[in-house]
Amino acid sequence: MKKLLFIITLVAFVASTAFGADGGNPRKGKHLFKKSCKTCHDNNGEGGEVTPMTKTQKQWDRLFDKQKHDADAWTNLSERDLKDIQQFLYDHAADSPQPQTCG
Ligand code: HEC
Repeated sequence: MKKLLFIITLVAFVASTAFGADGGNPRKGKHLFKKSCKTCHDNNGEGGEVTPMTKTQKQWDRLFDKQKHDADAWTNLSERDLKDIQQFLYDHAADSPQPQTCG
């Protein structure tokens, strides 16, 4: 019985960390967005102003999943970083429960 409990706990733990690593970390994403995206996307940047509200959740996912952005601009960002940024933007997209204009 003890062994079974141990296995259940172990499985639950592994499942929860696997899930946690899959979704990005929006707090880190916010920081990274300010640091890595705002350089070109503040209100007079070369890429035009971009905020989480610029797009809907679906549009953000499309942009990141299909890597539609000019690739050179994103070379300094790891896959992990992009995942975090994607999560932040998604959480505060125009059609999200908490839209945000700025990071
Ligand atoms: C080196 C400058 C630069 C950086 C850094 C940069 N961008 Fe851009 N971005 C651009 C330019 C220039 C455009 C517009 C022209 C284009 O699409 O090639 C653009 C376009 C966009 C668009 C509009 C694309 C569309 O199809 O509507 C979004 C959204 C966007 N960027 C988001 C981001 C995000 C998020 C980041 C950070 C992960 C980022 N950008 C980092 C330069 C940059």
